[in-house]
Amino acid sequence: MSKNSLSSRDVFTSRLGVIAAAAGSAVGLGNIWKFPYITGVYGGAAFLFVYLGFIALIGLPIMLSEFTIGRKSKSNAFGAFKKLAPGSPWKFVGMLGVAAAFMILSFYGVVAGWSIDYIIKSVTDSFASKSPDELDSMFTQFIEQPGLPIVYQLSFMLMTMAIVIIGVKDGIEKYAKILMPILILIILVLDVRAITLDGAKEGLNFLFHPDFSKLTGEGVLSALGHAFFSLSLGMGTLITYGSYIGNQNNLAKTALQVTVADTLIAILAGVAIFPAVFAFGIEPSSGPGLVFITLPNVFQQMPGGFFFSILFFLLLTVAALTSSISILEVVVAYFREELKIKRKLATILATAMIAIVGVFCSLSMGLLKENTLFGLNFFDLLDWISANMLLPLGGLFISLFIGWYWGREKIEEELAKGAGVVSWLLSVFIFLVKFIAPGAIAIVFLHGLGVFNF
Ligand code: PFF
Repeated sequence: MSKNSLSSRDVFTSRLGVIAAAAGSAVGLGNIWKFPYITGVYGGAAFLFVYLGFIALIGLPIMLSEFTIGRKSKSNAFGAFKKLAPGSPWKFVGMLGVAAAFMILSFYGVVAGWSIDYIIKSVTDSFASKSPDELDSMFTQFIEQPGLPIVYQLSFMLMTMAIVIIGVKDGIEKYAKILMPILILIILVLDVRAITLDGAKEGLNFLFHPDFSKLTGEGVLSALGHAFFSLSLGMGTLITYGSYIGNQNNLAKTALQVTVADTLIAILAGVAIFPAVFAFGIEPSSGPGLVFITLPNVFQQMPGGFFFSILFFLLLTVAALTSSISILEVVVAYFREELKIKRKLATILATAMIAIVGVFCSLSMGLLKENTLFGLNFFDLLDWISANMLLPLGGLFISLFIGWYWGREKIEEELAKGAGVVSWLLSVFIFLVKFIAPGAIAIVFLHGLGVFNF
C-alpha cells in the first residue's frame, strides 16, 4: 500500500489494501447504527428486500462506475470529470458530492461521538442491572445534553482531522485490516446470543418475512438512499479511492467483494439487533437510538458481556473513523484542488466548518429539538437530504456519465486492465448503468418526493 497520504497519486500496492480502504469506507455506522434503525422504522423485511434489490441493480454497478472513473482519470471527483469531460458541466457532479460529504460528516460525527460515550459507559459498567426502560432513558438523557455529546463529537472530528492531515494510511489501514475482522467476529457472537434469546423468533420474522403492504414511497426512497450511503456511493468517495487503484487490479471483482462484505455486515447487525428488540420489548421503530438501547441489554445477558461491550463500541468507533476519513477527504480534495488551499489548512478548515454544523446537529437532539423543518430536526434533515436526495442524484449522474457519455469501448478498455472481460457481463453492466440505474433512481426519487403516485 502507498506510503503517502490519501492525496498522492500513488497506487495501492496490494489487493488487500484496495479492499481494506474501500471496505473501510463502506463499513461504518451505516451498517451497524443506521441500517437496523431505518429497517425498524420502515417495517422490517420488505424494506430489507427492496434495499437488497437496489444494492444489486444500482449500488454494485455504480460502485464499479466510480472505480472506473477514478482509475481512468487518476483524479479526485472534480478533477476526474474535468479530465474525462473537459469543458463540460459534468464537474458539477463533484460539487454535489462535496455538499453531501459536508452534510453527512456533520451528523456522522455526532453518532460516532455517541459511540465514544458508550465505550466509556461500558468501561464503567454503567449498563449493569439496568432494565430496558432504564437503558432507553439513559440514551435519551445523554443525547439531549448540550455538553458531553458535543465534546465527544468534537473529539471524533479531531481524530478524523489528524488522520487526514498526517495521512497515516499505512497506520489506519493496517489496523483496519486487523480490527474489522474482529468487529465481524463480535457481531457473530452477538448474533448467536441474540437468536438464542427467548422470543428471538419474532425478531427474525420481522427481519426476513416481508410484508410488502407495509412499504411506502418514502420507505423505498430511504432504501435507495441507504444503498448509496452504506456503499459510500454518489459523492465521489470511491472515485477518489479508485484513483489509487493500480492497473493490475480487477475492478469488477473488487466492487463485488466490497458490496457483498458491506451487505453481509449490515444483515449480521440486523440479526444481532432485531431478535433482542423483540425479546426485550423495545419498539423496532424507536429511531436513531435503537442500537444503543438494544445492545446493552444483550451485553447484560451474556457471559463476558462487559468485555464484549467495550470491544464492540471501540470497534464501532474505529469503523466510523475509517469511513469518516473517506468523507472528509472528498471535501479536502475539493478545497485543495479547486480552491488551491494547502492540504493541512484545507483539512483544518473543512473539519472546523463541518464540526460547527455538527454541533447544531447534536443540539437538535435536545435544546433545539423543537426547531424542525418538514417535521424533521436539523440532524434528521441533513441525514435525509444527503442520503435520500444528494447521493441518489450523484449516482444518477455517475451512471449517465458512464452509460451514455463514455460508452462501451472506453468502459471495456478500462475494465480489461487486470481482468478478462466477459462480453455478456459487460453488456449486463452497461444495460444497468445506461437504463436500469438512472430509470429506477428517477422513478423512486420522484415517487418518494410525492411528485406522482402509482
Ligand atoms: N458508508 C459509510 C457507512 O456506511 O457508515 C458512510 C459513508 C462513507 C457514506 C463515505 C458516504 C461516503 F462517501
